[in-house]
Amino acid sequence: MQTITLNSPFDMHLHLRDNEMLELVAPLSSSTFAGAIIMPNLVPPVDTKEAVLEYKDRILRAIGNDQFSPFMTLFFKPYSKEFLESVKDSISAIKLYPAGITTNSEGGVESIDTVALAPTLNAMSELNIPLCIHGETNGFVMDREKEFMSVYESLAIAFPKLKIIMEHITTKDAVRMLDKYDNLYATITLHHLLITLDDVAGGMLKPHLFCKPIAKRYEDREALQKVALEAHPKVMFGSDSAPHPKHAKENCGCAAGVFTSPIALQVLAEFFDKNNKIENLQKFISNNACKIYNMKPSSKIIVLEKKEFKVPSYYEKGDEKVVPIYANETIQWNIRNYNGK
Ligand code: DOR
Ligand code: ZN
Repeated sequence: MQTITLNSPFDMHLHLRDNEMLELVAPLSSSTFAGAIIMPNLVPPVDTKEAVLEYKDRILRAIGNDQFSPFMTLFFKPYSKEFLESVKDSISAIKLYPAGITTNSEGGVESIDTVALAPTLNAMSELNIPLCIHGETNGFVMDREKEFMSVYESLAIAFPKLKIIMEHITTKDAVRMLDKYDNLYATITLHHLLITLDDVAGGMLKPHLFCKPIAKRYEDREALQKVALEAHPKVMFGSDSAPHPKHAKENCGCAAGVFTSPIALQVLAEFFDKNNKIENLQKFISNNACKIYNMKPSSKIIVLEKKEFKVPSYYEKGDEKVVPIYANETIQWNIRNYNGK
């Protein structure tokens, strides 16, 4: 049987939430991934050192004995250099949300002005703290990421030593930026490699595929697929797995977010294999991230095998239920084991 062994797979953009949802979803990442960059958009947002440390503790409790490192982030605000120095060793990055652009981002930045934000961004640059950005304007939904490119450009030029991660890119415009500015990097999700707007809204409306940024055109997906499959050194896997309770998705006001973490590695293996690029998956899932974030891989090893697996219709714990991408469908790869388990 065909297999692939992955060393230390990392998810460089993950929402683990809190309370019962955290307890439900954290083990679904920690069983297969070696670590993840944890998003700070809780209510209230993670914006103090205490909040970072307490949230990390709750995550570690939720994953039990799994070998998994939560790499913590702060919710971007205008922070002082003294504060950043004090918190630097407890975080891996700071996440900037334009105000109101997505789930729990109301306390984000009203206007991304390089002059007004300079004290914080210069301090981050000096302290080597990467800046992760949700790059969307509040324009027409299909143009939001494209319109944000000028913001990325002005930040990349004004802060040339700041590592800027364009999170969950969805357009060919964002892909083009990677080769234009040394300090721009990107995460790519599983779902944006696989779907276009047609899958979300071209037939019956699919709430479980609705997310922000929304999936775009075929040519955009093709540009993402190309850099992922070649494991372009400036891209890394970030699932943006964003669980919402089943009732909040299957609702006339559907929450944005696709839940992918339990089957992300399996579906990535299938995608890379189908495209005859399985040898590049290790870089996309781990090596590139280690270089970009200056991280060391862990000793976690995952073996995947080409064997059919039926995706559950939902995962549940207590009163919480969450529906994964490809619920009830059969995927072609499965997890064999990790580190002997
Ligand atoms: O679809 C999304 N869901 N996009 C985001 O940026 C946030 C996420 C969430 O937290 O639900
Ligand atoms: Zn996200």
